[in-house]
Amino acid sequence: MIQMAVLGFGTVGGGVVEVIDRNQDVIRKTVPQGIYVKYILDLRDFPGNPYNDRVTHDYQDILDDGEIEVICETMGGREPAYTFTRKALERGISVCTSNKELVAAHGPELLEIAKAHNCSYLFEASVGGGIPLIRPINACLTQEDITAVFGILNGTTNYILTRMEKSGLSFENALREAQEKGYAERNPAADVEGHDACRKIAILSSLISGKTVRYEDIPCEGISRVTTVDFGYARSINRAIKLLGVSRKLENGKLSVRTAPFLVREDHPLHSVQDVFNGVFVHGNMVDDLMFYGRGAGKFPTASAVVSDVMECARNIGRNIGCNWSGEILSIADPKEESYRYFVRVGKEEEREAGELLHADFMVHYEGAPADERAFVTAVMTEREYEEAVKSLSSVKQCIRLLQD
Ligand SMILES: NC(=O)c1ccc[n+]([C@@H]2O[C@H](COP(=O)([O-])OP(=O)(O)OC[C@H]3O[C@@H](n4cnc5c(N)ncnc54)[C@H](OP(=O)(O)O)[C@@H]3O)[C@@H](O)[C@H]2O)c1
Repeated sequence: MIQMAVLGFGTVGGGVVEVIDRNQDVIRKTVPQGIYVKYILDLRDFPGNPYNDRVTHDYQDILDDGEIEVICETMGGREPAYTFTRKALERGISVCTSNKELVAAHGPELLEIAKAHNCSYLFEASVGGGIPLIRPINACLTQEDITAVFGILNGTTNYILTRMEKSGLSFENALREAQEKGYAERNPAADVEGHDACRKIAILSSLISGKTVRYEDIPCEGISRVTTVDFGYARSINRAIKLLGVSRKLENGKLSVRTAPFLVREDHPLHSVQDVFNGVFVHGNMVDDLMFYGRGAGKFPTASAVVSDVMECARNIGRNIGCNWSGEILSIADPKEESYRYFVRVGKEEEREAGELLHADFMVHYEGAPADERAFVTAVMTEREYEEAVKSLSSVKQCIRLLQD
């Protein structure tokens, strides 16, 4: 049997152990020797849990065992996840992870270490939860020049936006509901401020470029300023507001990358991606558009993706599963040169001036819009032009980009 260990017996780690147990017969069709979780590392004990006898609190037990061939790192965070991963790879033990924070920060370095020690560092679950996305990009689309990847990468914010859109909940109430359902963490900043989606689009951008796109370089806006009024206007122009990670190759070869709320037309497939689901578009120069859809988080969907990586490692013991992602930093396109049409809300008193400065294309109305403001969609303009124009306006209440049609 392939012996493995799970680091962190939380939502995902617990799911990994259960998936391996419950689907052992299915797993053996691909990995005939079977897979056995020998150790579970956690800070706590789990009295009454059937797996409690496998729990250890000392990572050294796992490293020194000699039989462990694969480790799942499902602890999350930078440390000690980074040190533990490094030590495992240096001993030739493959590591599979759902930890996007670590992958975004240290991916290429850990991939290099894995390569040098004939083992693998796999991270399917770090983007899109249960959706197979990274392996398709790395294995099925290597013949393609992938020119764009974009989509809904964070289930928590998509749930909040869906509740605001469908039930008219305020952002605060939708967030509270997401927390009560266990979709949002008590400190929701990483999700609602867009950082989680930003890390994921950084990982995807790195994979399609083969270099490192630093998430710190990516302009990142969250959804905490989106209101039910915005949804009222959005509905009247047949659009919904979605938090997207967007990465596109420009004609000059540069990659333009951004995380922000966008107005998405109702005939766009991403419009119908609701609740905690994720939807990701990949555009290849030959295959054209591909769309990946499914549960972007949750115990079993995420664990399923981690286990798919474990099986891949089990089939490649002693070999490195390559990944085209080098540590060379990619300088992304100047975000100020990106062009969009913008949905803008301004105070009624600045209607005329704002309309002229921002090249208003058409006004947006809806029953129930605040009487003291006006809303319109601008002509296409660059971020730089937009920022220059709004400098002389004092009543801009909202600005949301339209997803290019
Ligand atoms: N949950 C999802 O749906 C999902 C989806 C995709 C990706 N992810 C990613 O997967 C990772 C794990 O997420 P999760 O939701 O499973 O988190 P979680 O439920 O908080 O589980 C983490 C577990 O690791 C344990 N742990 C933390 N530090 C440890 C240490 N130093 N040594 C040993 N154990 C330690 C925690 O113990 P304590 O509870 O005692 O602190 C907890 O049991 C994160 O990177 C997350 O972003 C999660």
